[in-house]
Amino acid sequence: MPTIKAAILGFGTVGEGIYRIINEKKKEIEQQTGFTIEIATILVRDIAKKRISTPGVQVTDDIREVFGQPQLDIVFEAIVGEEPAYTYLSEAIAKGYDVITANKTMFATHGPALLQQAEEKGGHIGFEATTAGGVPIIQTVKNLLTGDRVHRIQGILNGTSNFILTKMRKEGLSFKAALQEAQNLGYAEADPTDDISGKDAFRKLMILSQLAFGKQPEWKTIDIQGIDKIKLEDVLEATNLHYRHIADIEIDENGNLSGSVAPVLIGPDHPFYGIDGVDNAIIVETEYLGALTLVGPGAGMYPTGSAMVNDFIRIAGVRKKELITS
Ligand SMILES: NC(=O)c1ccc[n+]([C@@H]2O[C@H](COP(=O)([O-])OP(=O)(O)OC[C@H]3O[C@@H](n4cnc5c(N)ncnc54)[C@H](OP(=O)(O)O)[C@@H]3O)[C@@H](O)[C@H]2O)c1
Repeated sequence: MPTIKAAILGFGTVGEGIYRIINEKKKEIEQQTGFTIEIATILVRDIAKKRISTPGVQVTDDIREVFGQPQLDIVFEAIVGEEPAYTYLSEAIAKGYDVITANKTMFATHGPALLQQAEEKGGHIGFEATTAGGVPIIQTVKNLLTGDRVHRIQGILNGTSNFILTKMRKEGLSFKAALQEAQNLGYAEADPTDDISGKDAFRKLMILSQLAFGKQPEWKTIDIQGIDKIKLEDVLEATNLHYRHIADIEIDENGNLSGSVAPVLIGPDHPFYGIDGVDNAIIVETEYLGALTLVGPGAGMYPTGSAMVNDFIRIAGVRKKELITS
């Protein structure tokens, strides 16, 4: 059986998830793809940090050692922030590797350039994990676009914000106490600014806009509000209505995009009314289908790692077809 040789850039929550799933599902992946996958190398920032054991795998803090691996085929990227992630993936594509990323901060900004570069090079990019973690929204929109036209997407795209709003409403916790609980449970980042300010949801919305409409609105035209200004009294006063943090993007008949990212009060007839806790939810409205709602875990080691392994299985399938027809 031919082998696909992989690198994992970043070995935190997501990187470790990819490693675990690939090892736990080795047989199933072989059956589905016809390839054995070998994780040859892992890139981290701090080589001295204690980690799970990864026998036979090179662990390095030097990207040159990663790219120096002979016959690398695919790069999983799960590091944090725009750089050096963009530079690494651009170099990977230039070298002819396929890439799969979870890095929404990087992909919201540099996704269009990477996709174009990969197309010119005949490479493949998986980015399912960038948006709503384990919810297969990227593949769903891609499938819908083959015979339909998307005209609006609304999403609860930040699980931490939804968790905090749920705790405030159901348990009467203050914003600060609910945020603290989200941090204690590992839902919020140590620095939760991007979660609660709406920036994280905005980035995911831009990735969805690029995919569904082939373009993004000018970023400064979108009003971005987080949940950080909501007071407990506001939430409790709403009684029969629920606050949800909703990212919304729409295209009109002339191709103009408009959007918003903000806390919104919704009633029981809205599909997001019952979405509590850390879950993400997305409504895709299309010309023929009407509205489709997806709900599921927006983050976590296994949901996110599994979205990336599913990207891998799809890309391996395409590679197999290319091998057969070449
Ligand atoms: N956590 C989730 O559920 C989730 C869901 C969807 C998307 N994502 C995205 O996935 C990415 C990874 O998230 P995470 O939660 O796994 O983060 P994390 O736990 O903080 O892990 C980040 C990893 O990247 C490594 N790293 C950071 N900067 C690096 C650099 N400059 N060079 C080499 N390695 C570097 C770190 O190395 P050290 O271990 O040595 O520090 C660490 O192993 C992020 O872009 C995040 O937005 C996360």
